Amino acid sequence: MSAPLPLSSFPLQTHNSFGIVAKAHTLVRVAHEADVQAVLADPALAARPKFVLGGGSNIVLTGDVKPLVLKVEVMGRRLIHETPKAWIVEAGAGENWHAVVAWTLAQGWPGLENLALIPGSVGASPVQNIGAYGVELQDRFESLHAIDLVTGQAFTLNAAQCAFGYRDSVFKHTAGQDGDFGLAGRALITRVRFRLPKPWKAVLGYADLERKRADTGIDQPDAQQIFDWVCAIRRAKLPDPATLGNAGSFFKNPTVSPDQCADIIAREPGIVHYPMPNGDIKLAAGWLIDACGWKGKSIGNAGVYDKQALVLVNRGGAANPVTGGEVMTLARAIQTSVYERFGIRLEPEPVVV
Ligand code: EPU
Repeated sequence: MSAPLPLSSFPLQTHNSFGIVAKAHTLVRVAHEADVQAVLADPALAARPKFVLGGGSNIVLTGDVKPLVLKVEVMGRRLIHETPKAWIVEAGAGENWHAVVAWTLAQGWPGLENLALIPGSVGASPVQNIGAYGVELQDRFESLHAIDLVTGQAFTLNAAQCAFGYRDSVFKHTAGQDGDFGLAGRALITRVRFRLPKPWKAVLGYADLERKRADTGIDQPDAQQIFDWVCAIRRAKLPDPATLGNAGSFFKNPTVSPDQCADIIAREPGIVHYPMPNGDIKLAAGWLIDACGWKGKSIGNAGVYDKQALVLVNRGGAANPVTGGEVMTLARAIQTSVYERFGIRLEPEPVVV
């Protein structure tokens, strides 16, 4: 078993959705589980710290990447089985997320339509527990296959073992931190299985979707209709990374207690907020940033998108791209002004490398 060829000084500009210029000192393409095992069997590669790269749609590169980059390119899509209650579908971690969503619908297996057009790869979807328009990955998740980057052992995790939270999972925590069982830097996800429940039921209720329902007069949309609506909504308010580099929402929507919320509403009656099932209140980070006057502003080549203040963008394009340092300077300036005005600390969503 020989390891796939390690590539030196591999340019990452087209492998991160901000379009930041950086290099991987060494990169190995992982197309099969055996490629990881071969890396671990190679003494020169095995000893190095490792960084798993998926679609690069949720990272900020602040310099060249020194750990060994494992670029996940495991492909394949198939129906595992169909029961009276669900379709169980599997996709390789290297598959493009949106292409898999479109494919499941074309096969007649609805359920992922609210998650259309999210940039990135299938392997990243459980790491982030991606979510949009009332559905999170965890609502459609069956299990995943991964490889332990220390032992080379393959293992499987179910939803409970992934410890999903809002834009959070076991893959974002380091073992030992806060007494956690964490797998950050320890696991490479190779395949993900989805459970698409039968009978299919539309998930509506989100303000943007309800608006589409009212505007079109279609009261009972099918899955394809919802897919089309979600694509149209996202295209209208989120920049396409292919034309304007970005990493989606840059901050998580913060949660506060009802007391804190009442206090903020007294001062800021217009604040956009949503009650959560546990009694806490979620605040719209985009609204907070917008209220601080950041929409459309820039620091260097890092900008705040003019249609959605939660998204930071690369205003320099491919020719004069933003640096990770500029993105983080802008992010910190936003955090400071939101904290000074509202007393709320915004937490970044992307992984800073
Ligand atoms: N708002 C403003 N000004 C802004 C941006 C937003 O006032 O500049 C207000 C909007 O008018 C709306 C509220 O804030 O009342 C929420 O905005 P939006 O519906 O656009 O959703 P979001 O909370 O900003 C979240 C997710 C998105 C996801 C959408 C739809 C997070 C951090 N972001 O955005 O996810 O697509 O809801 O479900 O939870 C991502 O994670 O990368 C992402 C794009």
